[in-house]
Amino acid sequence: MILQNFIVFEGIDGSGTSTQISLLKKNKDIGNILFTSEPTDAPTGKFLRQMLKGDVPVSNETAAYLFAADRNEHVNGSIVLGDDKKLITGIKEACKSGKTVISDRYIFSSLAYQSISCNPSVPRRLNQGFPLPGIVFYFEISPKEALKRITGREIKEIYEKEEFLNKTVDEYHKVLEEYRDSGINIIILDATSSIEEINAKICSAIGNL
Ligand code: TMP
Repeated sequence: MILQNFIVFEGIDGSGTSTQISLLKKNKDIGNILFTSEPTDAPTGKFLRQMLKGDVPVSNETAAYLFAADRNEHVNGSIVLGDDKKLITGIKEACKSGKTVISDRYIFSSLAYQSISCNPSVPRRLNQGFPLPGIVFYFEISPKEALKRITGREIKEIYEKEEFLNKTVDEYHKVLEEYRDSGINIIILDATSSIEEINAKICSAIGNL
């Protein structure tokens, strides 16, 4: 099932998805949008954040299950909004009520990242039942370039390593190919372009919804 008014931003760490979401939030002309992200801000997602910092060691397969469990809450849970009106859970319900939902990461992150440390069949099996988005924006960038952008960050996460991200890019390319004929509008953005240029491309695609 495709939720046409569900939009997903994907790319490796440091590719700029969050910067573009912050910019869209300031654009008052594109109302009726709820913003959200994965891992979520629900308790399941908070646990994942601890895992990503390396504070909670779990096996790679368990990580795949945890991302899928958090996603299930994100998609199928009832609508919960944070203080900043960010959608914490309830994507399906929000889309059905006519809102456009934009998520920073979704199943494609699991299919790319968890295919490196697990057998790729594991994230595929765990994520096969989720609805598909109408649009996926994929932020294309080399890991070297992306890591340059995030070296100053205080909190380092377990996947922020060049060798790992090189493999992640390869996995993302395989995943995008797998979904080529799925009915999703897959838009590949050059994430090294200026912030304004990328924003203009996103706004024009969202405006055509
Ligand atoms: P971010 O908040 O910078 O996007 O970081 C989330 C990290 O979690 C990033 O390294 C990608 C990773 N991740 C997965 O490995 N699998 C997933 O399903 C999701 C949503 C994120």
